[in-house]
Amino acid sequence: MQMVTKTTINALKGSVGSEVRLLGWMQRNRPSGKVQFLVLRDGTGVCQCVIEKGKIPDELFADIKHLGQESSLSLTGEVRREERSVGGYELAVTDAQVIHRTTDYPITPKAHGVDFLMKHRHLHLRSGHLWAIGKIRHTVIDAIRHFFNENGFTLIDTPILTTVAGEEAGSLFEVDYFGDPIHLAQTGQLYLESAAMSFGKVYCFGPTFRAEKSKTRRHLTEFWMVEPEVAFIDLPGLLELAEAFVASIVARVLRDNRPELESLDADIKALEKITPPFYRLTYSEAVELLTSDRTATFMADELQQLETQKQRLAQRVGELETQQKGSLKQWQREKNAAELITLANDLTELETKILNNPKHAKLATSFQWGKDLGGSDETILSLMHDKPLFVTHYPKSCKAFYMKADRSDNRVVENFDCLAPAGFGEIIGGSMREEDYDLLIGRTREEGLDPQDYDWYLDLRRYGSVPHGGFGLGVERTVAWVTGEKHIRQCIPFPRMMDKVYI
Ligand code: 4AD
Ligand code: MG
Repeated sequence: MQMVTKTTINALKGSVGSEVRLLGWMQRNRPSGKVQFLVLRDGTGVCQCVIEKGKIPDELFADIKHLGQESSLSLTGEVRREERSVGGYELAVTDAQVIHRTTDYPITPKAHGVDFLMKHRHLHLRSGHLWAIGKIRHTVIDAIRHFFNENGFTLIDTPILTTVAGEEAGSLFEVDYFGDPIHLAQTGQLYLESAAMSFGKVYCFGPTFRAEKSKTRRHLTEFWMVEPEVAFIDLPGLLELAEAFVASIVARVLRDNRPELESLDADIKALEKITPPFYRLTYSEAVELLTSDRTATFMADELQQLETQKQRLAQRVGELETQQKGSLKQWQREKNAAELITLANDLTELETKILNNPKHAKLATSFQWGKDLGGSDETILSLMHDKPLFVTHYPKSCKAFYMKADRSDNRVVENFDCLAPAGFGEIIGGSMREEDYDLLIGRTREEGLDPQDYDWYLDLRRYGSVPHGGFGLGVERTVAWVTGEKHIRQCIPFPRMMDKVYI
């Protein structure tokens, strides 16, 4: 017997007209008397496999017909170009082998609640949605490494078990280290600053831990952050680095993941605009904008658009509900039911936005210089821009002790946040670092920190101190922004959140 070549779905293009063998899992099957349209997924894509009665033994035909969702199997057949089929190719099946028969797979094509899906994350990872996000996350991470490796940066692995706090002390996870308290890293930055004095341009990339009491769509307690640090740079140089970096990530995703972006309904047109230069506003200019008439008008327009969207959604719900009362095929009924659940979620979300709009508008228009920008202020600023926005020079009082005081205005620091557009918000936080020994010691004291704990960090200002700075980009936030995913918990395979760790 001649062995048929084993291949994968993403390689079918090169095998049109030949016979190949695919190994995978049955996503769904629509059997009729004489033909079955079985959708197989194999980790590289999905492919419709057409099984005609008479082309394989009758017994096998009947066996496959009764297979449960997620059964694993090997299918042999001829590859055909088929425009209308998912992925553009089809397999005309000539032989099949069942590898494992599945019954009662818990996640059916019907819609499920968030809690149920989170508890079944180990299975839900097989869904088309999480698969597409996972492929994009892979590209984002690869693009990050590529960018720094190609631009003369050296990778430095900073410790996860750390002795110093980099960001707010309140968000440290404490670990018992043989009887002594130690923390999980909330940033690699301080260690990275030391490495920058050896290698010049460095980056670290790893898991980061924050015991933040935030249950928002933007917060995880374990997330991945990449942090570059550069000696002999200034703030404009850092912004240029950050914009080239972000643009390179988006360009790679556009190049490598168009089908995934399409399947997630991501805004590809908006992503195509993400090229340097990004927008720049100082914090003071941002406050001026927030408190201006322009923002008040913008928010009023926004509210009107939300109301219109709500009406449209409500109309669609009405149509579907009427359809459900009539006679429908079972699959159509299930499809409608799933859409209704999605629409109900969208409606709730819209209603929250509508409710929040006047509150957020009020917060913005009455914003006082000196406060940190809140989540809603960031959302408004980012809604008002179609490319990422750098907000620079925040008041010293709302930022970390290590940020460099602006020598021309001592009230502010040389820092920046990068806000992704269309309402997404912060994806990067960064700054120049205080390089002056006396000023830095002063800042640790002002923040109630013990300079003794930072003695090794102060050494960097004792021996050959130089201007230097860097930033941190959150991987999950970046993936959520690029994919248009609302909640960052979908952008990491096994999320850890403040209120819950599921599996
Ligand atoms: O703004 P952050 O706190 O900055 C730092 O940690 C600096 N030490 C970085 C540096 O200058 N080297 O965090 C940087 C980014 C944020 O912009 C956000 O994208 C992400 O890390 N991030 C989170 N992502 C998910 N969940 C959380 N709880 C996050 N906290 C921060
Ligand atoms: Mg930040």
